[in-house]
Amino acid sequence: MKVVLGVSGGIAAYKACELLRLFTESGHQVRVVPTREALRFVGEPTWAALSGNPVATDVWDDVHEVPHVRIGQTADLVVVAPATADLLAKAAHGLAGDLLTNTLLTARCPVVFAPAMHTEMWQHPATRANVATLRERGSLVIDPAVGRLTGADTGPGRLPDPTEIFRICLRVLRGRSLDLAGQKVVVSAGGTREALDPVRFIGNRSSGLQGYALARTAAARGAEVTLIAANVALPDPAGATVVRVESTAELREAVLAASGHADVVVMAAAVADFRPAARHDAKIKKTDGEPEPIHLTKNPDILAELGERRRAAVPGTSPKVIVGFAAETHDVLANGQAKLARKGCDLLVVNEVGEHLAFGTPDNAATVLVAGGEPIEVPRGPKEDVADAVWDAVAARLS
Ligand code: CTP
Repeated sequence: MKVVLGVSGGIAAYKACELLRLFTESGHQVRVVPTREALRFVGEPTWAALSGNPVATDVWDDVHEVPHVRIGQTADLVVVAPATADLLAKAAHGLAGDLLTNTLLTARCPVVFAPAMHTEMWQHPATRANVATLRERGSLVIDPAVGRLTGADTGPGRLPDPTEIFRICLRVLRGRSLDLAGQKVVVSAGGTREALDPVRFIGNRSSGLQGYALARTAAARGAEVTLIAANVALPDPAGATVVRVESTAELREAVLAASGHADVVVMAAAVADFRPAARHDAKIKKTDGEPEPIHLTKNPDILAELGERRRAAVPGTSPKVIVGFAAETHDVLANGQAKLARKGCDLLVVNEVGEHLAFGTPDNAATVLVAGGEPIEVPRGPKEDVADAVWDAVAARLS
């Protein structure tokens, strides 16, 4: 596959070297088209050596080969990483002052932009309008990650992890459409922890892999994603805004806040049903006699609460589709159907769990139960395939 890697002039240009390697090492032919400003950060020899192809920035090199038209025309994918505010503005307005902007105008293949800039620039109305224009025209503009920026600033504007940008690009190359464009989705992932004392907690084995796969695939399908992560040690999926929580109370607060303006909520997190009735302020010490029993109290059921709020039309609860997960060790389908009805959700993804099933493994198999519809069997495969099957069912429900 022929990939054009556009690089514009931001400090994150150095991360595009890693993205380039991921493409070349997986057998893609990559033509790097940096802007003149990008070359101030990473020089031409680096791009040429890593890609094995000539590198040009303007339209006046090798004119007999008509590169300003040919590079875009023959590409299977154009990805611009980092995409600066300036580059996004030029692309949105169809300017064609250099080789990269010419390439963007002549490309008929999918185009992915991975913006990186300071928060103020990303949030400026001019940039917002340019991003909206590019998205309307069918480009995938990945929301930048939140974190440390150049200098002391922190906020949205970081280039996502190159591995995560690469994963999105691979999906686009495989022809997945942007069928969730314009949809705001909330995904919870991981497992909640309930503190016993400052050092101990009651938790569960959820790794967050399935929830992260849901967030990643939704972003790659064009959705605006908020990922609420409970105790997950995985890299942030590109394009998702990550909110970190620990306990069920924190998860509930974050989910209810985010679901106020969401179209879809997917509760993939393994939520503790109970928490210790009392949290000790100091570490519980060993004593000579029998240990004190731990008294538990019930946690709120967030999924049931979402369903209930929607049924009662509570203001600030907008989700059109609510998706639950159920981990069952026996009577999988019967328990699942009962749970779907009890929790008032539209879809319930049922997993069979046990010692070696589902937790922490890259693969999963599931049955998606549909309120008022036929169940959908998802054969064992990568958790991203299960995620895609869930989004297919969500997309069908939305339309
Ligand atoms: N869930 C939730 N809040 C809870 C418990 C669970 O929102 N306090 C959500 C999970 O995120 C999941 C779904 O509910 O989407 C199913 O959770 P599960 O624990 O399997 O369901 P329970 O109702 O607790 O049923 P049981 O423990 O009897 O299997």
